[in-house]
Amino acid sequence: MGGLPLHARGASVIAEDRDPGISALARPGIFPLVGDVAEEGAARLAVATAVEQFGRLDILVNNAGIIINKLVVDMTLEDWDRIFAVNIRGVFLHSREAMRAMIPNGNGAIVNVGSYACFQTFPSIAAYAASKGALAQFTRTLAVEAIDHGIRVNAVGAGDTVTNILNHIHADGPSALADYGKHALIGRAAQPEEIAKVIAFLASDEASFMVGSITMADGGKSVILPA
Ligand SMILES: NC(=O)c1ccc[n+]([C@@H]2O[C@H](COP(=O)([O-])OP(=O)(O)OC[C@H]3O[C@@H](n4cnc5c(N)ncnc54)[C@H](O)[C@@H]3O)[C@@H](O)[C@H]2O)c1
Repeated sequence: MGGLPLHARGASVIAEDRDPGISALARPGIFPLVGDVAEEGAARLAVATAVEQFGRLDILVNNAGIIINKLVVDMTLEDWDRIFAVNIRGVFLHSREAMRAMIPNGNGAIVNVGSYACFQTFPSIAAYAASKGALAQFTRTLAVEAIDHGIRVNAVGAGDTVTNILNHIHADGPSALADYGKHALIGRAAQPEEIAKVIAFLASDEASFMVGSITMADGGKSVILPA
């Protein structure tokens, strides 16, 4: 959800995705990288490539995430481990490598993409919600460690957003998300750009006083209990 609005604001971007289709994004200021965020080598390569291509690393957005909808009694160990590998191990690995590159500069910003599942849950998302709860606490802890180096760490708590994340379980994943969004106070799901703008804000100097926050951008879904 995060890359292009940052590019539009002048950032040079390393766009890492496991999908080889990411290569189509190649253009001046966007360097696609095919990689699995859960791999230590991919995190090292992403940060090294940023420094090599653009001279330094100022911003890290940990956006990649997956969901598997299964009740706990039906969930396999493989399901559980894969969700945690992508949704939180990848965040740790990329954050660690980014911190190592940012600390000598004395500034930087890390934005993690969370969810209302950082705080709330419903049946069939135990692993996802646990991984996003972990992301929230990782965000806060890293914020404490990073701020002395001038590095701000925050997260966005995204609500239902019309993306492809449910395509593996719905014939039309974006429409399913648009339907879920109707339960938000605002009465609709977000367009990806609406979340990306929050990410870009948290990454920017405009957010100079934002440290360790989980900024909810969920159309008000987390504000009230369902009737
Ligand atoms: N869409 C929503 O309603 C919603 C709500 C709350 C939070 N989020 C969060 O937003 C983030 C982005 O998700 P999205 O909705 O855009 O989903 P998406 O499936 O449309 O996009 C996720 C991208 O991550 C990539 N990816 C997945 N696993 C990867 C891996 N191991 N290595 C590298 N790339 C990988 C996918 O190829 C895909 O391009 C996720 O962290 C998700 O949990 C989404």
